[in-house]
Amino acid sequence: MLVVMRSVAGIAALMLFSLPALAGGNVADGQSKSASCAACHGAKGQAINSVYPNLAGQNADYLALSLHAYKKGERSGGQAGVMQAFSSSLSDQDISDLSAYYASLKPLD
Ligand code: HEC
Repeated sequence: MLVVMRSVAGIAALMLFSLPALAGGNVADGQSKSASCAACHGAKGQAINSVYPNLAGQNADYLALSLHAYKKGERSGGQAGVMQAFSSSLSDQDISDLSAYYASLKPLD
């Protein structure tokens, strides 16, 4: 039980530690950094085909957490290897900007 409580506390501490780093994304900067992403995720965050996820309108914090997880190799399986490659060179600011940009786009109806 103590072990469980410790890991819950650890996760909570990790999230508290991580979340402030997610703030501060700039939509315009994110748009200019998104050219390479558009090859799969589409010019407006609507994927070019159904094997890629749409990003338009997704929650900014979720997008940032996903990109940090790919970059650290914490998200694996499926097609995650593709995103590990594309996230490896992104800085924390790039991730914040890209996340703010995709969150700002309208999802498909
Ligand atoms: C070669 C195609 C390709 C390119 C280029 C690409 N992605 Fe991806 N992206 C994918 C695929 C495939 C997945 C699904 C991976 C998986 O199975 O976890 C994905 C997943 C994601 C996710 C997680 C979505 C979710 O719903 O969990 C985010 C966020 C993301 N990509 C952002 C980006 C950004 C930002 C860029 C540009 C820096 C980019 N991608 C470039 C193919 C690509």
